[in-house]
Amino acid sequence: MQPYILQTLVAEHDAILPVLDGLVACARNADTKSPSVRSLLSKYVAFCRGFVDEIHHGKEESLLFARMCASGFPRDEGPIGVMLQEHEVGRGAVGAMDAIAKGEGPLNDAELANLGEQARAFADLLARHIAKENTVLYPMASRAISADQMEILDGEARAFDQERWSRKGDLLDLAATLTGSLPSGSKQRSARPGVVSRATDAPGILGAAAGEAVRFEDLVEYQSGTIVSRTLAKKNGGTVTLFAFDAGQGLSEHTAPFDAWAYVLDGWVNVTVDGHSVRVDAGQGVLMPGGLPHALQAVERFKMMLVMVRQV
Ligand SMILES: [Fe+2]
Repeated sequence: MQPYILQTLVAEHDAILPVLDGLVACARNADTKSPSVRSLLSKYVAFCRGFVDEIHHGKEESLLFARMCASGFPRDEGPIGVMLQEHEVGRGAVGAMDAIAKGEGPLNDAELANLGEQARAFADLLARHIAKENTVLYPMASRAISADQMEILDGEARAFDQERWSRKGDLLDLAATLTGSLPSGSKQRSARPGVVSRATDAPGILGAAAGEAVRFEDLVEYQSGTIVSRTLAKKNGGTVTLFAFDAGQGLSEHTAPFDAWAYVLDGWVNVTVDGHSVRVDAGQGVLMPGGLPHALQAVERFKMMLVMVRQV
């Protein structure tokens, strides 16, 4: 079984690559007449900054590379030095594309040529970078980092992702929009190991069926090796989300700034609140108060509705 952090990083690579193809196509199809290129480009820039850099490179730099350096790898040279340098070059290209996206009206000839060059260079750089990480750097990390250290690293990576849970989901939705891969109807996006899959809203169930009785547990399906989530409501005051956890999945200990109620719809789950563990069965719920550390562990698969309430 691959460590969580490496599984997740590889799954993130799989999410990034199709967006790079879309970016190159966007640059190729751009011309000096279309006024909408800049707004489309700004969406690619938002994905590159948010998902590629902040979430993916952020996790690599602050956790994986840091742990590899602690295991003896030099930071300024060798494989990590090269990866860090490539992250910097990528940031430069995204900055140049952002400057174009922020302009007004249709692109001029110079901007068109620059966009084509930056998009191609960025996509090529990242595709090669990803291939090196998948085939050389990550296997190297899994050999160099001891099992104990890897367990700590996995805990840190889970906490990192949990803090960015909602943002990551939004960026994956943006990627699906940009690549046209958002499935229609009630079909769910394919599971990516280590990445929370978000079911798309089936039209007719949540909107048109307001006022009808529905079985919430039927609105989210299990997928092997992952956690599937489905947002029923997302307002300033809070969220209502359905989750289907496969056996073995969980949320390691973390603290949220607001109260969360978990109501188990199917199966059962072990919940730990402030160091106290409790089994919560279908039909039961548990309050995880804001500010108190809590964790969830799915020994067997289970579904829950999570209601989070924010102060507005
Ligand atoms: Fe990477």
